[in-house]
Amino acid sequence: MKRRLIIDCDPGADDAVLILMALAVPQTFDVLGITTVAGNAPIEWTNKNALKLVELAKRTDVKVFGGCRRPMLRKPIYAAYAHGETGIDGSSMPEPKTSLQSRHAVDFIIETLLHSSQKVTLSVSGPMTNIALALIKEPGIAEHIEEIIFMGGSTNGGNITPAAEFNFYVDPHAAHVVVSSGLPMKMIGLNVTHQLVTSEHRLEILQRMGNEVGRQVAGMLAHGVEHDRVRFGLEGRSVHDACIAAYMLRPELFTFKKMRVLVDHAGEATMGASITNEYPAHINDQWLSVADSIQADQVFDLIIDLMRTYKD
Ligand code: BDR
Ligand code: CA
Repeated sequence: MKRRLIIDCDPGADDAVLILMALAVPQTFDVLGITTVAGNAPIEWTNKNALKLVELAKRTDVKVFGGCRRPMLRKPIYAAYAHGETGIDGSSMPEPKTSLQSRHAVDFIIETLLHSSQKVTLSVSGPMTNIALALIKEPGIAEHIEEIIFMGGSTNGGNITPAAEFNFYVDPHAAHVVVSSGLPMKMIGLNVTHQLVTSEHRLEILQRMGNEVGRQVAGMLAHGVEHDRVRFGLEGRSVHDACIAAYMLRPELFTFKKMRVLVDHAGEATMGASITNEYPAHINDQWLSVADSIQADQVFDLIIDLMRTYKD
């Protein structure tokens, strides 16, 4: 049976790879819709980018629903330093011809879940604002969720502050609502996603694979290489969010361990930090499956194989 999937995202070059991976395998995923949120770039850009991507993939059957314009309580923070002002600097896709759906992402998520006879997986690769609001507005959706697979948090420090990963830091209150919901969840944090990086050779393969998808992905990933090299000492640019699609397609390439996870939504130095712990505790005994290893070479090969399936 196909996995019914909603992709909640803030594209973002690595979100873009996740979307293109998921749209490449219609035999495996029934993508019910793509919902956007402000994160890597303002919502106007993440909306436009999602539309461009479904057009690039020739999958305009998959509808895009615009979501929250800002985090629950905090002022928006964008990641132009890594993705450029547009969220996908380095790409050159035409202006979209299609438009957003009129329904808000949060309402789309709620109505789709409530009316789905089969449970739905939520792929969450941006700040968790839409998902938290959906859970608050209609808690009844919980029983329709197969699992939430998200990129966020970390077991070994942050990338936007020493303590916090970007998606959690942008909307720590939403992350807290979702992470403490008790729903089945897989957390894929920086401790794993920083291992999935580009190299010159990989970008070259994408660039020369002979299709527009490959060229666009190479362009947008090349944009962030310098940032990740200089700031994090990585070999190339990390393709964080692609881990979500890779995990669903090839779970054997990851290992997870059960950890207690809390999101700090009240601290200053530690705002948005994910506090992870392997021991049971008396208070806040909230367990999640947390990714702790990845076979990154195989995951990158999977990305390349899937991008190659696109025909111009
Ligand atoms: C996360 O932050 C964003 O910049 C990326 O798209 C990814 O979802 C990594 O911290
Ligand atoms: Ca993202």
